[in-house]
Amino acid sequence: MTADDLKRQAAEAAIEYVESGMIVGIGTGSTANHFIDLLAKLKGKIDGTVASSEASAARLRGHGIEVMELNNTGPLSLYVDGADESNRELHLIKGGGGALTREKIVAGASEKFICIADDSKLVDVMGSFPLPIEVIPMARSHVARELVKLDGQPVLREGFTTDNGNLILDIHGLQIMQPVHLEQTINAIAGVVTVGIFAQRPADVLILGQEGGARIIT
Ligand code: A5P
Repeated sequence: MTADDLKRQAAEAAIEYVESGMIVGIGTGSTANHFIDLLAKLKGKIDGTVASSEASAARLRGHGIEVMELNNTGPLSLYVDGADESNRELHLIKGGGGALTREKIVAGASEKFICIADDSKLVDVMGSFPLPIEVIPMARSHVARELVKLDGQPVLREGFTTDNGNLILDIHGLQIMQPVHLEQTINAIAGVVTVGIFAQRPADVLILGQEGGARIIT
């Protein structure tokens, strides 16, 4: 099976968690896109969706699925999204697609967060995938200097602007031994909008596509 087959397999398993009348939070990326495409078959059953990016909102609308404003929905029962890395405590690195801020907002507003991924995303220690950080443009150099003090090597994501009009720094060379602590530390740097560590609010369920069938970790 290809990595894309495994992503689709994980998305298929996540569809089982969708119930009638739900408003479903929707993530961003190639795995979330599989979930969106599968959700199209259930669009008469759900009340609507909240999207974590303009790209996902456009894909949902392309299927005729209603996209709602989070300010109008109240708490969501379910959020489904991919990840760039997960450890066994379901702490995640997210933001490879640059949508981390809205993803963290929707995850925070959801009762259950199901992360879907191919099994290459499960790691012992996070950090091989460069950690994305969304920053206010005028703070770019200041934030980069502060990250060097934390032994990271920040690289500006060239030619990329987030849906919120900000920049992304990708931090190379980290070994994230204490995800909750590092999330708090980086969040406290002036000019950081969001760090792509999802540890204070981890996933509740991790569904990994793998040879022989999806594996579910809670
Ligand atoms: C988007 O900003 C990310 O958080 C994605 O969830 C992450 O990059 C996973 O992407 P894929 O599903 O494309 O691997």
